[in-house]
Amino acid sequence: GRSTNATSPSLGFTAVPIGNADNVVVPEGYRVQTLIPWGTPINGDIPEFAYDNSGAEQAQQIGSHHDGMHFFPIEGSSTDGLLVLNHEYVEPRYLHAAAAGLALNRDQFLQNDDGSRDADQVLKELNAHGVSIVRIRQDDSGQWQVVRDAFNRRVTGLTPMHLAGPIAGTAHVQTKYSPDGSMVRGTLNNCAHGVTPWNTYLAAEENWAGYFANADTEIDRRQTRYGIASRSEGRYQWHRADSSADEFVRFDASSHGASAHDDYRNEPHAFGYMVEIDPFDPDAVPIKHTHLGRFAHEGVVFAPAVEGQPVVCYSGDDARFEYIYKFVSRRPYHAATADGSLLDDGTLYVARFHEDGSGEWLALAPGENGLTPENGFEDLADILVNTRSAADHVGATKMDRPEWGAVDPVTGQVYFTLTNNTSREAGQEDAANPRADNSFGHIIRWREDTAHAAERFEWDLFVLAGDRSDSRDLSGDTLGEEAIFASPDGLWIDPDRRVWIQSDIGESDMNRGIYEVFGNNQMLAADPDSGEIRRFLTGPIGQEITGVITTPDQRTMFVNVQHPGATTSEEGFAAGRHLSHWPDGGDALPRSATLVITREDGGIIGA
Ligand code: FEO
Ligand code: CA
Ligand code: CA
Ligand code: CA
Repeated sequence: GRSTNATSPSLGFTAVPIGNADNVVVPEGYRVQTLIPWGTPINGDIPEFAYDNSGAEQAQQIGSHHDGMHFFPIEGSSTDGLLVLNHEYVEPRYLHAAAAGLALNRDQFLQNDDGSRDADQVLKELNAHGVSIVRIRQDDSGQWQVVRDAFNRRVTGLTPMHLAGPIAGTAHVQTKYSPDGSMVRGTLNNCAHGVTPWNTYLAAEENWAGYFANADTEIDRRQTRYGIASRSEGRYQWHRADSSADEFVRFDASSHGASAHDDYRNEPHAFGYMVEIDPFDPDAVPIKHTHLGRFAHEGVVFAPAVEGQPVVCYSGDDARFEYIYKFVSRRPYHAATADGSLLDDGTLYVARFHEDGSGEWLALAPGENGLTPENGFEDLADILVNTRSAADHVGATKMDRPEWGAVDPVTGQVYFTLTNNTSREAGQEDAANPRADNSFGHIIRWREDTAHAAERFEWDLFVLAGDRSDSRDLSGDTLGEEAIFASPDGLWIDPDRRVWIQSDIGESDMNRGIYEVFGNNQMLAADPDSGEIRRFLTGPIGQEITGVITTPDQRTMFVNVQHPGATTSEEGFAAGRHLSHWPDGGDALPRSATLVITREDGGIIGA
């Protein structure tokens, strides 16, 4: 059931060296342009970017912390399309720099004397999250420009959305705002993404749990298994906004009223999903598809759709010792009628990797694999709202932080990055997660038995990332200087089968200790057959490289730079020294932005 006609892709560029400077470096013969930095106006009355933009203005501008991204061509064009991208989170010290007199330290936010938060700053933080849809076009000089267009749109932490699938309408998600459990406001911590076979965009909700406060002493697994603890304060404390507006108060999940219809005890149960957005319908209400599971969704990747066969997609839960999942639709795919309802009826599976290189998919469904009321799983909605607990119960393989997945467009082989895990103790290793101290991460891949909907597969390790001594490529060698990297995260396989790998060494680790040799975060390209890896790009100081897609002709590539300047020390920041001024230079604050990469000779990127 697999192609044998796969041609290996060319890697026709000269590797760039490790980077430590505050700039972007691409291979000789390539050009790079910076587009849509945080704050770029895209719609409405077009407020120009300024450090003191209001919360309302932020809703008409590109958000912060660019992440997963796709280019939706308009009528097949490679010079005109909709760029759709996620905004994962915000750094208040940059978002409120003007109000703070540039004196905030990392992870601090501004509070009033009584501990409440300025409502407009809360609004700005919510509106800097979410998704941007922006039309872009290449002009005659080869530069890409934002087009002010009716398609341009922001989806934010406040946008009303539908819940769909088995959890929708149940008691799990009934709130004061939506007593029938059909709606929720906003999407948060949108990390990576997916593109459906019917050409819509899915934004993942990853580290949503940290946004909620909860003062209750008794909290059940629907929150505790996801990291919401008793007396949690919430990452940005939005519930303490000084306006007391219901849309801010709801981030307090404590039980205040007599029932769930009086408060927001169930609000966290409406997060942790994949959110479908139709970029070509600005009026379409986004949809959270609950049957794809509730966890820290890194992203989702679809197998190529086959007429008459089920729709299949894969999603990782990015936390230490969490799992890789697969959804298989019950109804078959038909191109003429396919839509998001295919994602609301099917079977969610979780992966078990056996020591001998085989693997199996375990169904998370009522009565399957011990998921019964006697064992604490009442019905399908209960299983799905407690996806992590269900996966624990069936004995899935605990992975080293599953991040992005990618599917080889020719062979159908599925790749997943496992970014790192330093919490595995000696003796806890397994064949699929072979390092006890996995500081550098690895990439696993598998071939499904017969078809993507199969329940068995064969897997191997594509690469153990790391330095010149502690790494292993497909041929069994250690990585050379042109290939060393750590903490693989973003991943995409282009139509020619180049495997693009992006690194995210965390802010507290990058450029120091065992990570110093890797320099700034970077992007590499790999040959899936030989396993050769070659560094293509290095980014500025303090950022991670994340999000990659080309135009259909593969002659323009878009790549995101997220959180430049994040390594700035607290002392340095307080003294007004920002280690990154990218991309604006001078004394500017750093801003997340999109890179547009082309070749001087107009050729295919990477070839
Ligand atoms: Fe948002 Fe797991 O990276
Ligand atoms: Ca990521
Ligand atoms: Ca990150
Ligand atoms: Ca990451």
